[in-house]
Amino acid sequence: MGETKTVTLTRDLTLTSTGGGGEALPQVEIPKQLGAVELVREIGKGGMGVVWLGRDNLLGRDVAVKFLLHAVASEDDPDFAQFLEGARAAAALRHKGLNTVLHADVISGVPFIVMEYVDGPTLGQVLQRTGALTLAATRVVMNAACEAVGVLHDAGIVHRDIKPANILLGQDGSIVLTDFGLACPRPRLSMGSRVEAVAGTPTYMAPEMFDKNVSARSDVYALGITMYELLIGTAPFEGTLEEVREAHRSTPVPVENLEPFEPSLAEVVGRATNKNPMFRLKTGSSMLVALEEAFAKCNPMVSNKARGESELAALTQRTLGRAGLVDGGSKATPQVTYYDRLNTLVQKRKESDGGEGIDLVERVLEEAKCWRCSSPLKGEPLTGRCPGCLLLVREAMRARSGGDAATTPVPTPGATPSSEPAAARVNEPPAKPGPNTTTAPATTPAGKGLRSKLRAAWRNFLGG
Ligand SMILES: Nc1ncnc2c1ncn2[C@@H]1O[C@H](COP(=O)(O)OP(=O)(O)OP(=O)(O)O)[C@@H](O)[C@H]1O
Ligand SMILES: [Mg+2]
Repeated sequence: MGETKTVTLTRDLTLTSTGGGGEALPQVEIPKQLGAVELVREIGKGGMGVVWLGRDNLLGRDVAVKFLLHAVASEDDPDFAQFLEGARAAAALRHKGLNTVLHADVISGVPFIVMEYVDGPTLGQVLQRTGALTLAATRVVMNAACEAVGVLHDAGIVHRDIKPANILLGQDGSIVLTDFGLACPRPRLSMGSRVEAVAGTPTYMAPEMFDKNVSARSDVYALGITMYELLIGTAPFEGTLEEVREAHRSTPVPVENLEPFEPSLAEVVGRATNKNPMFRLKTGSSMLVALEEAFAKCNPMVSNKARGESELAALTQRTLGRAGLVDGGSKATPQVTYYDRLNTLVQKRKESDGGEGIDLVERVLEEAKCWRCSSPLKGEPLTGRCPGCLLLVREAMRARSGGDAATTPVPTPGATPSSEPAAARVNEPPAKPGPNTTTAPATTPAGKGLRSKLRAAWRNFLGG
């Protein structure tokens, strides 16, 4: 017998109005090849179905295929028409923060949706492995999530299932909201019956959703709960479905737990999770504006976006590393990227130059120390930040000649809206020349040499 040409999916109709009854879960065989997409392996299961990694052999790219195992559908089923309507609305949207919907169909009664594959963990997996995020990482995630939800709301779409498990963290630093193509009304997946078995979802549900009233403000509520969870490490209400539903209806979210971070952040989460949708922030975009105003009041040292981005990148890698140990790796089909080629080039150069090689980044060459925290700067990229206090390396170098780190007054964090420029100003002697006089390798003969090396490297790289 040759290679198997089908995969077996297990339907779970216990959540539909017609299914259930304690019978064995029905299995359905579907072809491994769905048009141009070949199903490679299962990536994960959620409350509504299962997601497979697929390979589009025509276009040479990986995709994610989500099968909705709770719905019964055929082309003439009204549910399927609604499912398609939602998928169509989602497919019309293009935004870096939204998981692009590529195709939707039904096979052997199982609706499925083909999406862009995101090579990285969900925010839920990151939280599970590492606990609460820092303020800086929370800011980056919430910014991206609110912006993406704002785009949906502007297009008249309500997501209805915003939660960390539906936010994907790409290894390229992307933050992508997924599952919004499934946001269409699905009467068979009525809210009451669906949540009976979906343990994670009620945690983020606005009170009115338990009464089947849904609006953009319900998404805002879920964003508020998500933000609370990111900062505290656990969602505000946990327990049985009944307990959680009751808490959403009558217990205020304990936003006072967020006050030590910054009272204005606690206030925004309070406005997002008001029991009455009328008093809530209206859309993802209005939540984004309110949050940015609140973050602007935080100590800039701890809410710095660049810092948040690098922390998130590290968390993503750590989560992937651990996932790899558990399930043998969940990597997609390897693809050679631009950066891989660049790395190979640098590696080859290093070998042929007897280990010295060229570096494509300009670095601090001298034994310099950061004026503010005294961390050594030698070897740091000139465009980077001090490893000790995150001051821009150029700033850390510039002020060095104007003051000694040990005697220079350290500016009080939070004393100004942005401590970094302020720090540079505090320490900068008025008559001091600009950055080029102390660093600026680009203007030195060594810098010129580097540039010509770079040009030659580029010519090689491009095959010229
Ligand atoms: N576009 C995607 N690219 C890569 N992996 C994905 C993609 N979408 C989902 N996944 C993976 O599939 C797993 C299962 O996703 P699924 O949406 O079924 O679960 P869930 O989000 O926990 O539940 P729900 O059905 O309520 O959304 C996720 O945990 C994630 O690891
Ligand atoms: Mg999901």
